[in-house]
Amino acid sequence: MPDRVIVTGGAGFIGSHVVDALLAAGYEPVVVDDLSSGSRENLPADVRLHRLDIRDGDSLGKVFDQTRPRFVCHQAAQMSVSRSVREPLFDAAVNVTGLLNVFDRASRTGCERIVFASSGGVLYGDVSEPVAEDYPAAPVSPYGISKWVGEKYLDFYTRERGLSGVALRYSNVYGPRQNPHGEAGVVAIFCTRMLAAQPSIINGDGKYIRDYVYVGDVARANLLAMETSLPEAFVPLNIGTSRPTDVNELSQRLHRLCTEARESAELSGKVPKSSHGPARAGDLRSNLVSYAKAEHLLGWYPQVELESGLAHTVRWFAEHRPELV
Ligand SMILES: NC(=O)c1ccc[n+]([C@@H]2O[C@H](COP(=O)([O-])OP(=O)(O)OC[C@H]3O[C@@H](n4cnc5c(N)ncnc54)[C@H](O)[C@@H]3O)[C@@H](O)[C@H]2O)c1
Repeated sequence: MPDRVIVTGGAGFIGSHVVDALLAAGYEPVVVDDLSSGSRENLPADVRLHRLDIRDGDSLGKVFDQTRPRFVCHQAAQMSVSRSVREPLFDAAVNVTGLLNVFDRASRTGCERIVFASSGGVLYGDVSEPVAEDYPAAPVSPYGISKWVGEKYLDFYTRERGLSGVALRYSNVYGPRQNPHGEAGVVAIFCTRMLAAQPSIINGDGKYIRDYVYVGDVARANLLAMETSLPEAFVPLNIGTSRPTDVNELSQRLHRLCTEARESAELSGKVPKSSHGPARAGDLRSNLVSYAKAEHLLGWYPQVELESGLAHTVRWFAEHRPELV
């Protein structure tokens, strides 16, 4: 019998790639997702999906009792910073109470390790050099605060309940299946607009530096974080590339790739160059993470270069959103 892994948020962007990586490694992934932003289509047909909200502790408890997973990969979250500012209670209900439901059920049903999707961007804030995990966390938004609290709770469960935990602090993740309708996910937003030859807007001067990491690399990090034996019960690890890219450069690369995709599909109409709009309040100027600790402890490092990751992403959006091309 293959080992079971519960993936919360497994029908979403990153979670569905974790599911693919688990299947390839011979595990049986079991997905818990309310499909609020994820989709059944992101999953292979034979993967079991329990459609439920992690705030519903009783239903979640039944799934854990039935499944008795060896590992839990907690990706489900309310992940809009602006919604967290408008509705901090909703953010905490999903990202704190829902998370506690998951951690608590996991600890009662024999789970060995929980891997939790945290965030480098919201914990470290504005930093001009890649920072390590011991850089002081200073979350500002309720979303950032709830990610920080989630890590603290994971640390608590590892000390009190005999399981181990890894918090993966992702930088900016991009790749196939990313939702282009959210506020984040600039690659997905630009891809869909540019492939449809629609104008795209860069916020402010576009000199906003980010650390873009390909989703396949992130999925591999999740698998390694489950399987690798670690020196401490709770370990936070940055997952990023340490490579700075600003939004202007990203837009230029995507413009070229989307233009080529339209030309090879023999579509008429030029892809407009992005124009600049007003700056968005609260956007960080620069955010980069160091992945040295993940490399040291997991043997993980980013394998997909930005250019090939973007090319792969453009191809996926061109194939899967044909009405836009
Ligand atoms: N995308 C990034 O760049 C990034 C960066 C840092 C951290 N993260 C974290 O990674 C995780 C996955 O993000 P993603 O980009 O794949 O987003 P996503 O929206 O594609 O995935 C989240 C999934 O969780 C599900 N979900 C949301 N609320 C739920 C609830 N109450 N009950 C059950 N399921 C629920 C959604 O339906 C969706 O399938 C999140 O925890 C997010 O905070 C993402």
